[in-house]
Amino acid sequence: TAPSRVSTGELPRAEEVQQLVTEAYERYRATADGTVADYIPVLAEASPDLFGISVVGARGRSFEIGDVDTRFSVQSVSKPFVFALVCEAVGYESARHHLGVNSTGFPFDSLMAVELNDHRTMNPLVNAGAIATTSLVPGADAAQKFERISAGLSRFAGRDLSVNEEVYASEAASNLRNQGIAHLLKSYGRLYFDPDEATDVYTRQCSLEVTVHDLAVMAATLSNGGVNPQTHERVIATGVCRRVLAVMATAGLYELSGDWLYEIGMPGKSGVSGGIVTVSPGKGGLATFSPPLDVAGNSVRGQLVTKYLSDRLGLNLF
Ligand code: DON
Repeated sequence: TAPSRVSTGELPRAEEVQQLVTEAYERYRATADGTVADYIPVLAEASPDLFGISVVGARGRSFEIGDVDTRFSVQSVSKPFVFALVCEAVGYESARHHLGVNSTGFPFDSLMAVELNDHRTMNPLVNAGAIATTSLVPGADAAQKFERISAGLSRFAGRDLSVNEEVYASEAASNLRNQGIAHLLKSYGRLYFDPDEATDVYTRQCSLEVTVHDLAVMAATLSNGGVNPQTHERVIATGVCRRVLAVMATAGLYELSGDWLYEIGMPGKSGVSGGIVTVSPGKGGLATFSPPLDVAGNSVRGQLVTKYLSDRLGLNLF
C-alpha cells in the first residue's frame, strides 16, 4: 500500500497534485471489476471504459485527467446539493425536523431499523428522504420547484446544467418503486408536495447532466464554506454547508457510509451513473467518473481512486 500523508491545511504543490492524479489514473485504468447499472435501462448503454478524475482546490485550481468532458446524469450525487438548497430556503433546523439526519434513526438495539423508522424519513440522501427533500423545495408548482433545483445546482457547478431527456424518460418509465415510496411517505404526512409530481421533479433532478469537472467544482464549493471558488459566488451559507457535510459523512455512501469514512475519512456521495464526489473541507473537492459499480451501487474505480488520493494528497480528515 502507498504511504499516507497526514492532513494539513493545504493541498500539496500544484505539480505534485497533478502528478498524483495522473498516477491514480494510470494505476486503476485497467481495473475491470464492476457492472454498469441497468435498472434504469438507458444507463446500461454507458461504456465501462469511461474514466475521469478531477480535483478542484478550495481556491479554484483544477487538476484533471481522462474523460473530463463526458456528460453523464448526476443521479444521487444531486441529493446533498438539493438538501443544501432546502436548508438555505427553510433553515437547517426545519430541514432536520422535516427530513431527519440520522443513519437509521433507531436505538442501538433495534431489530426493526431496516424495515421501520417510526414512519419518518431517515436522512436526505437515501431515496425516501431525497424525494421528501425535493418536495420541500420552494415553488408553487413542479416547474417552479425544478427551476429552483436546476438553477441552484448550476450555481454550485458554475455553469448552466440541463436535463438529459433520454435518461429522464427512461427512469420515468421505470421508477415504480420511487413512486411507491412517495405515496407511502404522503400517507404518513412526511412528503410535502403531490407524490407523483414530487417523484417527477426528483427524477428530473437525477437526470441533470454533469461532467466530472462539474462535480469537482460542486464539491469544491462545499469545501470552501459554500462559495464557488471559480465563480466566487456564495451559493449557500457557511452554517448550511457544515450541516450538509455532516449528513454526507453520516449517510453519503448509504449502508457503507461507515466503511467509507473508515477508509477515506471524508464526506462523500455516490451515484448510479458512476460519479463519486468527496469533500476535504478547506482543501478542495475530488470527483471521479467510472460507470462500473460494485454490488452496493458504488463506482469500483471511483472508490479505488478516492482511497488512493485521500491518502496521497492528505485529504483524510482524521
Ligand atoms: O432514484 C434512483 O434510483 C436514481 N435516480 C438515483 C439512484 C442513485 O444514484 C443511487 N446511487 N447510488
